[in-house]
Amino acid sequence: MHLLSVGDLSPKGLESVILETGKIKKKPGEYRSRLKDRVVLMLFEKPSTRTRISFETSILQLGGDVIVVNKAMTQLERGETIKDSARVLSRYVDCIVARVLEHDTLTELSGNAEIPVINGLSDMEHPCQIISDLYTIYEVKGRLRGVNLAYIGDGNNVCNSLLLGCAMTGVNITVASPKGYEPVGEFVGRAVKLAEKTGSSVKVVDDPREAAEGVDFLYTDVWVSMGQESEEEGRLKAFQGYQINKEILGVAGEDCRVMHCLPAHRGLEITDEVIDGSESIVWDQAENRLHAHKAILLRLLG
Ligand code: CP
Ligand code: NVA
Repeated sequence: MHLLSVGDLSPKGLESVILETGKIKKKPGEYRSRLKDRVVLMLFEKPSTRTRISFETSILQLGGDVIVVNKAMTQLERGETIKDSARVLSRYVDCIVARVLEHDTLTELSGNAEIPVINGLSDMEHPCQIISDLYTIYEVKGRLRGVNLAYIGDGNNVCNSLLLGCAMTGVNITVASPKGYEPVGEFVGRAVKLAEKTGSSVKVVDDPREAAEGVDFLYTDVWVSMGQESEEEGRLKAFQGYQINKEILGVAGEDCRVMHCLPAHRGLEITDEVIDGSESIVWDQAENRLHAHKAILLRLLG
């Protein structure tokens, strides 16, 4: 099985990874040799702090071995095809975690690999982040079904995975994005379909205050994702008014918590006051990547 999208898991499968994350977090010692004699390759086309280091730590703490390479260090950089690379790598390692510029690279990699491929972020999705975030929400609330979440900002990779993950677990999600930066219709459509089964609601609006009203969680991400640097000027203009600050927090529910996948651009999509404030759970979110990645690896390799 590959994990390119949150939707590659069934709703039941997703629930079990979330529950397993909690068990692993409570008793990490019980999982110490679960990846013994397994080697995981991590391949990067873009920078990473959390994904790289939490996956590396997860693999080491599960007793496995890990190899980390930047694409520039491999023959992919000189034009060897993804197909040939996937075939060769399948003969060496037991799993590939890849962070890529274009999602198609992952499709090509997984289509030609004989081992599980995990999406460590593409331009379309960030499934490991969202599986971990759903655990964080569960940790705070003790449930997922019926929880209300607003995502304020860019309809990007994180937003796409969040739409699917919320719909699959019964979290009501409203996305507020400026016109032209909404999540792509394919993901909204998939989320709406999934939500029919769990009874959750999926909405896309352009007014951040409308989205934030009464919610349990406010979630945001950068306005300029990796690979979009040339669009920076236009994006910074378009996203004015989409900041998570004290004012928008005032519209949200009383115990609202604030989430950000990080890295944050303080003063743009979120203020210092909010990210460092008592409502912020961003550091727990970052920690939970470690526990959730163990659950993901064990699901695919265990
Ligand atoms: N949230 C996240 O994936 O962070 P990195 O880019 O540091 O891996
Ligand atoms: N949307 C951001 C997420 C970083 C973890 C990006 O793709 O750069």
